[in-house]
Amino acid sequence: MHLLRTLAVGLLLATRVTLPVGAAESQPATPPSAAYTPGLGEFMSTIQLRHAKLWFAGKGKNWALAAYELDELKEAFEEVGKYQPAFDGKPIAKLIGPMTAAPIAQLEHAIQAKDMVGFSKGFDALSHACSACHQATEHGFILIQRPVSPPMTNQRYEPARQP
Ligand code: HEC
Repeated sequence: MHLLRTLAVGLLLATRVTLPVGAAESQPATPPSAAYTPGLGEFMSTIQLRHAKLWFAGKGKNWALAAYELDELKEAFEEVGKYQPAFDGKPIAKLIGPMTAAPIAQLEHAIQAKDMVGFSKGFDALSHACSACHQATEHGFILIQRPVSPPMTNQRYEPARQP
């Protein structure tokens, strides 16, 4: 018991002694004004998640959620154009519009009309556009398709039951 307490106190002291050193080391190397910009791969991971959620929202006929996910997807693409316009020498910002505008418009139309057939077609066209841009930017090995299972199971994709 006594030995344990001595050990605990010793550990505490050791931590105290090393704390200031650790704190000094964790000072940011760059000034706080240098804002963090996510890389294209990080944006794409978000886009991938939106794309998958969009599918299950449509499949569950939760049209409000589908509209929301599509809007978030569009916003993410806008951010890609803003923050990663010329990733790896590729004109990313210039490619986004021509490659994705048509399927996104098709999806918007289908969501508004609550048209499941149109939604499925628009979704497949969007997935095809994703893969086509990967092809155009030397990432043809990244192939996008309809997801098989929901990416997150702690979120309901079906609309709430009407009372
Ligand atoms: C304007 C061109 C373009 C469009 C459109 C595009 N991507 Fe990408 N995507 C890229 C590029 C370039 C990379 C490689 C990024 C890197 O190397 O960091 C990439 C990478 C990815 C990755 C790999 C990320 C990882 O960590 O595994 C995924 C997944 C992805 N995209 C999904 C999508 C989806 C889903 C869509 C459509 C909804 C889409 N992308 C549309 C250009 C595009």
